[in-house]
Amino acid sequence: MKIQHLAAIAIASLSISAAFAQAKPEDQIKYRQSAMTVTARSVGVLSAMAKGDLPFNKELAQRHASTIADLSDLPLTAGAYGPGTDKGAPTKADPKIWSEADKFKAAFDKFSTSARSLPAAAGDLNSLKTALADLGKTCKGCHDDYRMK
Ligand code: HEC
Repeated sequence: MKIQHLAAIAIASLSISAAFAQAKPEDQIKYRQSAMTVTARSVGVLSAMAKGDLPFNKELAQRHASTIADLSDLPLTAGAYGPGTDKGAPTKADPKIWSEADKFKAAFDKFSTSARSLPAAAGDLNSLKTALADLGKTCKGCHDDYRMK
């Protein structure tokens, strides 16, 4: 590939990330809610395996575990809880998210750390159960504090 092409690609991807950083509050809200929706679906599949409602399947379990891990920190790192995203579309995000941003970030980090340990645990039903219970506590902890009813 010619160097000009590489430069053009680099510039194009820069403008894409700049555009994303300036996403409208309503789009940021939609983004963070969508990430949670996808995460919850994957958690649902893993929970069904943990409960025995769905036969344990290592490949499927690892795929959903990786989805959860990959999505876990995106709402924060992509700016979906950035300034001005407390309103602009229907949201259940508690205003405390912006008044105690450090604590909120800590709750997110705890969740992401737990989520990132999931793929390795998903190879075995017993370790999956333990890791999932651990993850579930981080969901509930944050929802209790930062998601409005
Ligand atoms: C660090 C905080 C935090 C963690 C951890 C967290 N959530 Fe959430 N979740 C939120 C907040 C805040 C909202 C509300 C977002 C909004 O309405 O803008 C939300 C919304 C949701 C929603 C509703 C999405 C929608 O379409 O409105 C679902 C489902 C959900 N979370 C599932 C989960 C699951 C499952 C986990 C754990 C695997 C989890 N969440 C972990 C903070 C968190």
